Amino acid sequence: MLKDVERILIDEKELDEITSRLADKINHDYKDSDKPLILLIILKGSLVFASDLMKKINLPLELEFMKVSSYGAGTKTSGEIKIHLDLMRDHLEQYDLLIIEDIVDSGRTLSRLTQLLKNRNANSVRTCTLLDKPSRREVDFAPDYCGAQIADEFVIGYGLDYNEKYRNLPFVGILKREIYS
Ligand code: IMP
Ligand code: MG
Repeated sequence: MLKDVERILIDEKELDEITSRLADKINHDYKDSDKPLILLIILKGSLVFASDLMKKINLPLELEFMKVSSYGAGTKTSGEIKIHLDLMRDHLEQYDLLIIEDIVDSGRTLSRLTQLLKNRNANSVRTCTLLDKPSRREVDFAPDYCGAQIADEFVIGYGLDYNEKYRNLPFVGILKREIYS
């Protein structure tokens, strides 16, 4: 796998600092809420990020999962999201939802998902992403919590994949262009 990595963009120490900083903010922002917090983990890419982040959140929380996709087997976004696995929870008005995502690109996935969950009357819906590529935005969307903004490059590792591979790399790296072009 390492030979396919152009260079390391965010190493393990920096990832640890990012999750600490985000957890501090989340701990502060939700500490006075009277509703239980649900971390809504978006499979599969945010799994590694979410598991590191949640260990640093010192509030009572519950976990739920959704699987959505806006990408096929390539690196270009396909206009709309598909829901492959839906949230298995009723009475969302009783919860604060914090959506955990790996990366925001066009912004379509999280803007649609946020809208969907607001329409289901969640008490609050916020978004937390490890990475953001603001230069790629196609819809008006800004995450509430963001680990790092990055340039328009295809990244893998720490949960992020290319064709389902590289998720287990412990760092975020830039994928060599020759692998996907
Ligand atoms: P959006 O709907 O265009 O914002 O797409 C977000 C999704 O695209 C993420 O959840 C990732 O699955 C995928 N994605 C976008 N950029 C990258 C990347 O650089 N590496 C891996 N996946 C990416
Ligand atoms: Mg994804």
